[in-house]
Amino acid sequence: MKHIVIINGPNLNLLGRRDATYYGTSSLLDIESDLKNKFSNQVKLSFFQSNHEGALIDYLQQLDNISGIVINPGALTHTSIALRDALLDTNIPSVEVHLSNIYKREPFRRNSYMSDICLGVISGFGPQVYNLAVQALINIKNF
Ligand code: DQA
Repeated sequence: MKHIVIINGPNLNLLGRRDATYYGTSSLLDIESDLKNKFSNQVKLSFFQSNHEGALIDYLQQLDNISGIVINPGALTHTSIALRDALLDTNIPSVEVHLSNIYKREPFRRNSYMSDICLGVISGFGPQVYNLAVQALINIKNF
């Protein structure tokens, strides 16, 4: 069975307690349970969240035999060349996700260091962005 990892960056452990107009009311655990219910008959899913840039990089560096990455880098999207390099070095097809529409917010959120090295970006549809991204990876020919 193919294996997809779902990676979340800083502050995403607080989903459900963050501004619901941007992030919805589901907790990260709710989102992860929903993904398991929907997809565990098709792919193996693993989950990782950290508030620390280095921990996210360490996690990316040790990935082995992984078919796809879904990543919400949180605010590191807009700042971290180091996370970008680590993601690039995995050579694993990746999808960038954001619960909020990063193009509809402050101008500094419009820059992403990840988008051009990902297969695609899904932004602005709340918690379902994770489902859409996993489905998109599964749908890819030769996945
Ligand atoms: C986010 C968007 C980022 O700009 C923000 O810093 C986050 C969450 C999103 O999912 O909408 O922490 O990645």
